[in-house]
Amino acid sequence: MPGYRDLFDASITDPEAFWADAATAVTWTRAPQRILDDSRPPFYRWFPDAELNTCANALDRHVDAGRGEQAALIYDSAVTDTQRTYTYRELTDHTARFAGALRDLGVGQGDRVIIYMPMIPEAVIAMLACARLGAVHSVVFGGFAPHELAVRIDDVQPAVIVSASCGIEPTRIVEYKPMLDAAIGMSEHPPRHCVVVQRDTHRCELIEGRDLDWSDAMAAASPVDPVPVAATDPLYVLYTSGTTGKPKGIVRDNGGHAVALLWSMKHIYDIAPGDVFWAASDVGWVVGHSYIVYAPLLLGATTVLYEGKPVGTPDPGAFWRVISEHGVKALFTAPTAIRAIRKEDPEGKHVGEYDLSTLKYLYLAGERLDPDTYHWAAEKLGVPVIDHWWQTETGWPIAANPMGTEQFPIKAGSPTVPMPGFDVHILREDGSGCAPEQEGAICIRLPLPPGTLPTLWHADARYEQSYLSEYPGYYLTGDGGHFDTDGYLFVMGRIDDVINVAGHRLSTGAIEEVLATHPAVAECAVIGVPDEIKGQAPRGLVVVKAGASTDGLAAELIQLVRDEIGAVAAFRLVDVVPALPKTRSGKILRKTMRGLATGRDEPVPSTIEDPTVLEKLGPILRP
Ligand code: COA
Ligand code: AMP
Repeated sequence: MPGYRDLFDASITDPEAFWADAATAVTWTRAPQRILDDSRPPFYRWFPDAELNTCANALDRHVDAGRGEQAALIYDSAVTDTQRTYTYRELTDHTARFAGALRDLGVGQGDRVIIYMPMIPEAVIAMLACARLGAVHSVVFGGFAPHELAVRIDDVQPAVIVSASCGIEPTRIVEYKPMLDAAIGMSEHPPRHCVVVQRDTHRCELIEGRDLDWSDAMAAASPVDPVPVAATDPLYVLYTSGTTGKPKGIVRDNGGHAVALLWSMKHIYDIAPGDVFWAASDVGWVVGHSYIVYAPLLLGATTVLYEGKPVGTPDPGAFWRVISEHGVKALFTAPTAIRAIRKEDPEGKHVGEYDLSTLKYLYLAGERLDPDTYHWAAEKLGVPVIDHWWQTETGWPIAANPMGTEQFPIKAGSPTVPMPGFDVHILREDGSGCAPEQEGAICIRLPLPPGTLPTLWHADARYEQSYLSEYPGYYLTGDGGHFDTDGYLFVMGRIDDVINVAGHRLSTGAIEEVLATHPAVAECAVIGVPDEIKGQAPRGLVVVKAGASTDGLAAELIQLVRDEIGAVAAFRLVDVVPALPKTRSGKILRKTMRGLATGRDEPVPSTIEDPTVLEKLGPILRP
């Protein structure tokens, strides 16, 4: 088998030949004759004349190939103490029937369906059912508050929303239905119908005429066959935080997505059909889309859907129990989960209580993997711990240590090397390339490979402006970093106002917009500060209006962010400060404050309006 260098070089010098070869792993209803449509740069389309159905590739074809009785999905709920296994045949039957239920509600090809659900099998079934119909799903993470859901409803304009009566967090029941109703009440484009899974833990009221009980809808429906769609048709829209309060609707196509994910499972993750793969994430995030749902199923592997936490459900041995009970070959999670486990079980005693002999790899992504966490995991688990770097936008890893191709010596702190198709460059502000060891903006030369975003939902101009305008011919990742002299990439952190809290991507701008609505707040800034477990935490700095009281203000602001954005923002740090440092043109010096808060010596811009403001902030911000 060719090594990494051969594959990477081939993908850059002749991308069409490279991806045409990879595309043979997909079952097409119309095989691609053309591989890349580059007639409208900077917009590129992969497999422009091909047709397929993603759901048929993820389910039916495995049943047809004799894998019908193999486990497709293992649901393991630590919070309800339930386990359920779906074979490929069963998952296909449920999905075909739910697709029928959606069709009965008028959902057809190209229509949108929002999925606002906890980690239960029905969430996966709903996603696949949309794919089966050629409808476009948009999953909204359950930790978001009604306002965030309403913003997504209005942008994507769903025909139907699929939800559940509740989610179960270790310390509380999260009632989804009141949040769903509130969001629909706020939105200008309400769905015609909602389908609601009634969970035994807590049942909810349904609105007659609008809402259907999942079980009733299933009982009344008949199964439907997969609908072939163009490879370039959207499979889903997944909203992610940008630098402003308005989330970006990342579009994923059908064809490029299937090709790239299949390629990644074999060549990066070293997973074969029949292996058990577990991404301990949430279907509301891109990791959940790609590596809980689509990639393992496209390959014919077995995926684990875990409803629970790394700690507290019931203890820090939860992950090791799941691995041993289900024979997991590779676990994929975020460094924050490992830090949480390590904090409660520093000696790794729980690791020793389980048979982890099936585990071959631990993959970590979602935030920077700090060397301490890397060393702890590598030592306690005794398997390769693979840091890899990617984004909602790319859908699969930009850089990794490709276990299925060639195993590079690991350098702690580096996600190793760029993956085929990702022509990564480190650029200075003037657009010139950085030398090894020199820090700059991490950019990817266009075209991006299959599986990455072709555009933003109904926002081509915003796509160009956000990602492609700063360095013409390149995609701006928003991360800063460098290559070392061995060609290893180091991703050091965001260079914009996006932060990563417990592997969850948040916009400081969105939190600022909420704080600014409080009547006592004159102006505010939110920055990411280091957090021992979550990597980063948002910290708000507010200046109050003259004469406004600060009594109880911090608690009110914390509640406001929780109500407007959601518990997931984990917003708990607020300081009232006399003033915010600004340039003479009035721009708040967030980068300089970030530097202070992380203990880095950020140069103070010469355009600063009043240096004493910064001096006064020093003692408050410094770690
Ligand atoms: N629905 C509703 N609420 C949710 C939720 C969901 N799906 N997921 C999280 N929340 C809530 C939590 O209950 C918590 O609420 P609280 O403030 O009332 O305690 C809040 O959102 C913050 O959640 P989180 O940041 O996850 O913190 P935590 O203390 O509950 O757990 C970790 C910390 C590290 C255990 C947890 O973040 C984790 O397992 N992370 C793994 C990372 C991950 O999955 N990343 C995805 C990308 S790979
Ligand atoms: P998301 O779109 O939520 O997956 O977040 C993507 C962002 O998370 C990236 O732009 C990085 O800032 C960060 N990230 C993800 N994986 C890594 C990694 N392995 N190392 C450093 N940062 C990472």
